[in-house]
Amino acid sequence: MRHAPHLLDEILRRTDIVQLVGRRVKLVRKGQAYWGCCPFHGEKSASFKVENARRTYKCFGCGKGGDAFRWLMEIEGISFPEAVERLAGEAGVELPKWSPEDEAREEKKKSLHDVIEAGAVFFETQLQEPVGREAREYLKTRGLDAATVKKFRLGYAPTAGNALIAHLTSLNISMDDIIAAGLARPADEGRGPRDFFFNRLMFPIGDGRGRIVAFGGRGLSPDAKPKYINTAETEFFSKGHQLYNLATARPAGIKAQSIIVAEGYMDVIALVRAGFEAAVAPLGTALTEDQLQLLWRVAPEPILSFDGDAAGNKAAIRAAHLALPHLKPGYSLRFAFLPTGEDPDSLIRTGGQGAMKAVLDAALPLGEVLWKSETEDKDFSTPERRAGLEHLLAEHVARITDAKIADYYRRDFDNRIFEAFKKRPAAGPKTPRAPWQPGAKKGRGGFNKTPPIEPVSEALKATLLVKAARKAPLKTSSADGSASPEANQGALQVKETEVFRHLIAFPGLIERHTELLASLALSDPFLDRLRGELLNVAASGSRLESQGLETHIILRGMADTLQRLKAHAAGSEMGESGEDADARFLRAAHDLRALAETNPERKRASERFKQEPNEESCLEHLRLLRDRSAE
Ligand code: UTP
Ligand code: MN
Repeated sequence: MRHAPHLLDEILRRTDIVQLVGRRVKLVRKGQAYWGCCPFHGEKSASFKVENARRTYKCFGCGKGGDAFRWLMEIEGISFPEAVERLAGEAGVELPKWSPEDEAREEKKKSLHDVIEAGAVFFETQLQEPVGREAREYLKTRGLDAATVKKFRLGYAPTAGNALIAHLTSLNISMDDIIAAGLARPADEGRGPRDFFFNRLMFPIGDGRGRIVAFGGRGLSPDAKPKYINTAETEFFSKGHQLYNLATARPAGIKAQSIIVAEGYMDVIALVRAGFEAAVAPLGTALTEDQLQLLWRVAPEPILSFDGDAAGNKAAIRAAHLALPHLKPGYSLRFAFLPTGEDPDSLIRTGGQGAMKAVLDAALPLGEVLWKSETEDKDFSTPERRAGLEHLLAEHVARITDAKIADYYRRDFDNRIFEAFKKRPAAGPKTPRAPWQPGAKKGRGGFNKTPPIEPVSEALKATLLVKAARKAPLKTSSADGSASPEANQGALQVKETEVFRHLIAFPGLIERHTELLASLALSDPFLDRLRGELLNVAASGSRLESQGLETHIILRGMADTLQRLKAHAAGSEMGESGEDADARFLRAAHDLRALAETNPERKRASERFKQEPNEESCLEHLRLLRDRSAE
């Protein structure tokens, strides 16, 4: 809504800006002006000035300043029209409506808001009635208490025929309004109008001011299809322009100068309960440009959280691309990746607030996410491929409209390319080395195709490991040497564990014995998965260091497996046996092979090779093994 300039002047003239700012900032009078500590940047001495004579505020430290409208927009994250409306109200200035039609539309909206509000109250009460029992039980399984239900105004849409329509009609609300409010589907194909939601747990969705404008409804059974239904687009509900929980998150986020974006309603509720009050979620769609602008009105670097799996990565990259043309100085995004298969709700449930905080603390900047998406798991061993990479990165930079930012990104990518490619693969035959000794050359051929694995906070590792430890302990029977199949299985597991413990402790083994590792028959599916990951890491050319590797494994969602390996009788076979890591690993791998071997012929060949390790016995053993892979 636009207003005539003289009206805006009138509002500003009638607004006491010192008093307005003084509600938020402690001001001290000095001459004509008032001074205080700037609320927009941390400072100890007052460089923030407010003057009624000029009707402005200004910080000489960070440069922020403006009139009373700007103040409200900045400090409360509201839009210009909202600021005008607020101050007009306070100043007693009447804002004319544009036209009778506009006025009528406003009136209509207002009455539809009342309809939705009545719907929300109905859902809330139904949840407490006998019909809401199943929904209440469901809430219990999700760990949601009465206070949370109240705070988020959760409700229940009953199954019984058109209960909401019946209720609203009894309040003299017309069917047209019920439909216009998005609460009922219109009549079609001989059927009358019917409730939009039934047998669903209801999440009211508020607009920027906190008025309910729509609902998300979750099916109670695990196989409800679709899992969530959202109000269809209405005159005042547009999925791409609103965010779940924004009205509450906004003041908290402005205060903390940070805001978290999760994927789902349940995640937002879990985040808020864990103390991350500034949490929002899009409404069942990918983040839009409008939502990005809403977020930036709260904090300069909103943190988007994603599942650590392939889909999450894809969503993160999509969000990164979306943001590029809109970047402006000081404003960007950060990307937090959860362990695979977790969302904030599940992570907080199992790992507590600390686990979530660790994930957020490890959030990556936008440039890093783009770089990773173009380089991770990719081979740049030819000049053409490297040139291709430069080209792709230049395309990203070209999408940035702010010249200064584009320039910084260009330099950042140039540096990364330089760092990544400055070491060339060593030409010629490999020089003999003792690779397991400290200081030995790392990475394949000394050439790192991708940067080293990210160091991630120790806190995150610790929390995830604790979480893993709380789960069921490793199912292993001990090897007692007897010949029963169970005992053999136990011995196998013990040996498998030992092999992997070596690999984790000395990651250099992975690249030195890739083929051997790949050929081992593993009975434990978790270790099998871990092996796949280790081989991937080795193949990607990432620098293999114990700490980084552990972090990587944890972030891949295999904290449990890692915990098992580490918890299991650490030390016995790892101790000072005089053997080096390679020899110990090879022995363990060989033992494992022998244990896993069930074919008597191969078993004999293996025994022979063990006793007389010569070329002939070795070839014979290998031949039989090759035959096996063809079986
Ligand atoms: P998720 O499927 O990740 O669900 O959808 P969730 O939030 O973890 O929910 P719970 O924990 O299973 O209850 C994330 C968000 O995507 C939207 C909803 O907004 C949901 O919160 N969504 C999901 C839909 O709109 N429709 C669907 O069918 C599924
Ligand atoms: Mn969930």
